[in-house]
Amino acid sequence: MTQKLKNKVAVVTGGSSGIGLATAKLFAQQGAQVVITGRNTTNLDNAIVEIGANSLAIPGDVANLADLDRIYQTVSDKLGKIDVLIINAAVYVLAPLANFTEEQFDKLSDINFKGTFFSVQKALPYLNDGASIVLTSSVVAEKGVPNHSAYAATKAAVRSLARSFSAELLDRRIRVNVLTPGPVDTPVFETITSTKAEAEAAKAGMGNFTPAKRVASAHEIAEANLYLASDDSAFMIGGEILIDGGIRSL
Ligand SMILES: NC(=O)c1ccc[n+]([C@@H]2O[C@H](COP(=O)([O-])OP(=O)(O)OC[C@H]3O[C@@H](n4cnc5c(N)ncnc54)[C@H](OP(=O)(O)O)[C@@H]3O)[C@@H](O)[C@H]2O)c1
Repeated sequence: MTQKLKNKVAVVTGGSSGIGLATAKLFAQQGAQVVITGRNTTNLDNAIVEIGANSLAIPGDVANLADLDRIYQTVSDKLGKIDVLIINAAVYVLAPLANFTEEQFDKLSDINFKGTFFSVQKALPYLNDGASIVLTSSVVAEKGVPNHSAYAATKAAVRSLARSFSAELLDRRIRVNVLTPGPVDTPVFETITSTKAEAEAAKAGMGNFTPAKRVASAHEIAEANLYLASDDSAFMIGGEILIDGGIRSL
């Protein structure tokens, strides 16, 4: 096994589940000291067991600026400066435009858009020059899909932020890129359905929607996070990796 992140400190927001957890596991295997965040402390504790040595969980809500200050201060106290920041925490809220509530809109906007913006802003004093930041978008940011309007717009905002952040952080050689998945096999489908069977059906439906006729594994997406986090992607700045099973192009 290579050690592409040897001696690096990596923070993965929303690292207790799905793509974030797969990324944290891969980063730890690649030699990083990994910090994961999330709101549910039981899930964080379970994730730490899965990730193994060299991992640290810090509870917190990315929509809460005081939590972000506390998280980065704790990382600094325990591990020093940050080399890799994976902004992955987000929620998936779907509803038809006609029924979308203000509460649903605020939740998506607070966690996915505001949470991404301030997760980067608050990290700035704690990042090493030359750090790599990855923001997580979604294929629906550039595709019209019913019921996805507000979620898709938050993910389009994330794509935009990576360009502006990169321009502002050039002098510190901090690269900001975007990872854009299509449907991925994660517990997120349980958050939009009521039963396990419904979640599996939703996932199968999404898989059918892709030209690849399947959803991605979380590990497939984690491998792209590793590429963007490591020096292998040194020539990528403000760019995007799309892993969508062909949805956007075919
Ligand atoms: N799965 C897909 O099909 C898919 C497709 C395209 C893009 N994506 C994107 O990929 C990323 C990961 O998705 P996933 O499917 O792996 O999701 P997931 O399994 O539902 O995991 C989401 C993670 O984010 C954390 N989180 C949610 N709200 C948070 C908050 N306010 N503060 C801190 N942590 C929070 C969750 O922990 P707590 O709930 O405990 O806080 C959890 O660790 C997201 O940005 C998502 O939009 C996913």
